[in-house]
Amino acid sequence: MRKHRVAVVGCGSLAQGVHLPNAQRNPRIELVATCDINAQAAENCRVRFGAQRAETDWRKLVVAPDIDLFILATRQTLRGEFIAPALENGKPVYTEKPLSPDLDDMLRILRAVRKSGLPVCVGHNRRSSPAMIEFKRLLDKAVSGVPSIPPTVNRMGDRQRLPEEKQMQLLMRINDDARSWKSWAFCEKESILFAEIVHFIDLALWMNRSHPVRAFVEGSNRGNFTIILRFADGSMTTLQHSLVGHFDYPKELFEATVNNITVAMDQYFEIRQCGMADEAAVKQMPYAAGCEWATKTGMTGYMQCVAEERQRAKAKGDAPRWLNVNKGHYDHLDRFLDHIEGRGPNPCDVESAVPVNRLALKLLDSARLGLPVAVQPEDWHLPQLEA
Ligand SMILES: NC(=O)c1ccc[n+]([C@@H]2O[C@H](COP(=O)([O-])OP(=O)(O)OC[C@H]3O[C@@H](n4cnc5c(N)ncnc54)[C@H](O)[C@@H]3O)[C@@H](O)[C@H]2O)c1
Repeated sequence: MRKHRVAVVGCGSLAQGVHLPNAQRNPRIELVATCDINAQAAENCRVRFGAQRAETDWRKLVVAPDIDLFILATRQTLRGEFIAPALENGKPVYTEKPLSPDLDDMLRILRAVRKSGLPVCVGHNRRSSPAMIEFKRLLDKAVSGVPSIPPTVNRMGDRQRLPEEKQMQLLMRINDDARSWKSWAFCEKESILFAEIVHFIDLALWMNRSHPVRAFVEGSNRGNFTIILRFADGSMTTLQHSLVGHFDYPKELFEATVNNITVAMDQYFEIRQCGMADEAAVKQMPYAAGCEWATKTGMTGYMQCVAEERQRAKAKGDAPRWLNVNKGHYDHLDRFLDHIEGRGPNPCDVESAVPVNRLALKLLDSARLGLPVAVQPEDWHLPQLEA
C-alpha cells in the first residue's frame, strides 16, 4: 500500500473536525506537517493528530521533499497563490471549497493544473457520500426513461406523454440554523450564498444533463433565500435555504421528480423512491463514523436518537453528542488518493468546479439586483487557455 505524505495547510474548525482526524485514521496517509499562520493552532494540531512537524509558512512546505500531497483547509482567501506553486513543485492538492470567488484566481489554478498535468480535487465532498451516490444512481435511472409503475390514481388513458414529463424538477431544502455559523460567514461579502451554496450548485450541475440558462435568487445572500436554476432542457432546480431552522433537525432534503418517478434523499441517512418496480422503496444508510451510539435509523429513528441523547446528557449534566451523518469527506479524499495512484477518476476536478463558482457569482448578482440573470456559455464552458 502506497503511503501519501500529507501536509494540512490551515488548521481551523474544518481541519480539526474533519481533515486531520480523517488523515489520522486513513492507513494510506502519513501526516507529515500541520501549517497555520497561527503558530499555536499549528502546534496544537501537530500534537493532537500526531504530525511530524508544525509550520507557519506554507512556502517552506511547497518545496519540502518529504511531502507528496496537500490538503488546503484555509478559507477562500488562500487558493491560487498556494495551489499554483504546489503543483509547480509536483504536489497535487485537495482544496476546500469554494475554489475561489475571483475569476483570475480560478484561471491561475486551471492553468497550473493543465500545465503541470497534476490533479486538484475540490472539496465538494457530498458527491462522495454513499447516500448521494445512491440518490444519483436512482436519479440517472429515472432520467434514462425506465418505465414508471402506474400510480394508484391513473387517468392517463391513451393520452400521449407530455414533453414536460422529461424535465427533471429537483428540490433542495436546507434547514440551516444561524446559531451554528461563525460570524465570518455573515461578514464576508459573498456570505453563505457563495461559501456554502457551491456544494449544492455543484450537485445541481452534476445531476442535470443540460446546461443552465437562467438563475434567480430571492432573499439575502446571508441566508433565507430561494434559488431557481433553469436548464436548457426545461429542467429546474429550486433550492430553499432557511437560516431560522433548528440545527438538530435533519438539515438537507433532496427530492427529484422526472419521468413520473420520485426519488428523495433525506440527510444522508435515508433514500426513498416511488415508481421503479425493481428498486427498494426505502433504503437506510449508517450515520457518520463515531456515531455508533445512535442505533435507531431512518427519519423517525433519527429524531428519537436526538431526543434521547438530549435527555441522557441532561441527566448526566454533560453536553449532548451531535448525531453527525456521512457527507462523504473521508471517501472524497480517499477517492482522490485512488486517482493520484491512477485507479479512478478525480472525484471533483477544477474543470467542473470553475463553472460552479462562476454560477455562484451569478447568483450573487441576482440577489443584489433582485432580478433573474442570464447564464451564458462562458459561465459553464471552459475554453483552451494560452500558457
Ligand atoms: N466541505 C465542507 O463540508 C466544509 C465545511 C466547513 C467549512 N468548509 C470550508 O473550509 C474552509 C475553512 O473553514 P473553517 O471553518 O475551518 O475556517 P477557519 O477560519 O476556522 O480556519 C481557517 C484556518 O486557516 C488559517 N489560515 C489562514 N490563512 C492562512 C495561511 N496563509 N497559511 C496557513 N493557514 C492560514 C487560519 O489561521 C485558520 O486557522 C472554508 O473555505 C470553508 O468554506 C468546508
